[in-house]
Amino acid sequence: MTAIPLQPPRRLVEFTLDGQEARVPEGATILDACRAAGKDVPTLCEGDTLTPKNACRVCVVEVAGARTLAPACSRRAEPGMDVRTDTERTRHSRRIVLELLASSVDMSTTPKVAGWLKEYEAKPERFGADAARVNEEPRVDNDLYVRDYDKCILCYKCVDACGEQWQNTFAIAVAGRGFDARIAVEHDAPLTDSACVYCGNCIEVCPTGALTFTSEFDMRAAGTWDEAAQTETTTVCAYCGVGCNLTLHVQDNEIVKVTSPHDNPVTHGNLCIKGRFGYQHVQNRD
Ligand code: SF4
Ligand code: SF4
Ligand code: FES
Repeated sequence: MTAIPLQPPRRLVEFTLDGQEARVPEGATILDACRAAGKDVPTLCEGDTLTPKNACRVCVVEVAGARTLAPACSRRAEPGMDVRTDTERTRHSRRIVLELLASSVDMSTTPKVAGWLKEYEAKPERFGADAARVNEEPRVDNDLYVRDYDKCILCYKCVDACGEQWQNTFAIAVAGRGFDARIAVEHDAPLTDSACVYCGNCIEVCPTGALTFTSEFDMRAAGTWDEAAQTETTTVCAYCGVGCNLTLHVQDNEIVKVTSPHDNPVTHGNLCIKGRFGYQHVQNRD
């Protein structure tokens, strides 16, 4: 059964999107309109369950009459606006953003980025091997998830999910400034000495795989991770009476990770430690 939250009706906003008439409910963003029209506008820091942060600027579009490019993920559609998503300026800007990010960060596990690098003819290699921002080993300091900050684009989505937008645990924050800025727990301690409650809600929103399930990390290291061979089954968590939805990712008849549907009107993709990581008992045949 799909739950449909009741909301007051919203007026439609009419504007022009790449020369075509577009209509979206009042309050919708340009990105919402692009997605409804089937346009693949790249996004990285945008999260469908989070307030836009405008950190990456890879989603920029051109709005007629505006001096600067606008981030499609946060700019709301306005009546009569004339938006272009694929112009020389937008392509140039996206290319630069992709080059800067992919030259300084390992984006090998970021979904769709390989296609965008090709589409925008980005050449991150022109910045050379010294451009790496962090250059450290993945942090494996607990049994449940791994933090690999070589892959972190500093989008702040994990901080928002851990903090006031969802979890209210505030276990992680941005430490340092400028080039030294990084995501860290208090005093940069191991996760096991922090306030983390292992809900995994930061993993759910991380766009690059910088935060990843230990199961996925180990399988990637062993060369056995195969998303194409995985099935996804959404079910109800049996640990308590709240009834959160779990999506079980299964490969070779084993659960390899658990996510949660973002469109669930109660949980919005968030879980607790039991729903997120408590699946090992299903496979424990001892
Ligand atoms: S697992 Fe949960 S509590 Fe721990 S850092 Fe991530 S969001 Fe915060
Ligand atoms: S760890 Fe992931 S979610 Fe957090 S800032 Fe880095 S890329 Fe974004
Ligand atoms: S996706 Fe829009 S600014 Fe990052």
